Amino acid sequence: MGYYSGIAEGYDQLHEEEQLKKIKILEKEADIKGLILDVGAGTCIVAKYFHKKGKQVISLDPSQKLLDQGEGAAILGKAEKLPFKDETFDTVLSVTALHHCNIEKALKEIKRVAKQKATIAISFLKKSSKLKEFEKMFKKVFGEGKRIDEGKDIIHVKN
Ligand SMILES: C[S@@+](CC[C@H](N)C(=O)[O-])C[C@H]1O[C@@H](n2cnc3c(N)ncnc32)[C@H](O)[C@@H]1O
Repeated sequence: MGYYSGIAEGYDQLHEEEQLKKIKILEKEADIKGLILDVGAGTCIVAKYFHKKGKQVISLDPSQKLLDQGEGAAILGKAEKLPFKDETFDTVLSVTALHHCNIEKALKEIKRVAKQKATIAISFLKKSSKLKEFEKMFKKVFGEGKRIDEGKDIIHVKN
């Protein structure tokens, strides 16, 4: 059992408040529109937040145990091989998850499943050794966007 599956039932109690702060920054800085994909969704904190605002979110995560704590449409899968057709989503979000992934594969997959004019907003763990690679690759794949220092994360937004 992976780390996150092991703490699945207590995850929201441990992390929801902290993650909600990041989500509120995403909401302010990013044009959150249409069909939304949340990559590395965990317990679907993003979906729970945006459902209340009438938005449609598909949550994707490799941990069924975490997804089971969530709500709405949830798909088991990994960022490196997204089980969706090209140009499906109007918005792709990811909150403190991509440091677990192969950065290049994950960002290219996000680009593939996002529509041409989609909003991309990714909150990335600042202390990860992959931060530099992520920032370089984000710029290469999505172009120049906004960069927000959140505290524990760096948030990149391309509207
Ligand atoms: C710190 S948690 C964040 C969860 C959620 N985004 C939140 O803000 O509460 C990191 C998440 O990344 C997921 N994860 C790990 N490897 C992944 C991969 N290859 N693709 C997508 N998500 C992955 C974990 O299962 C876990 O749910």
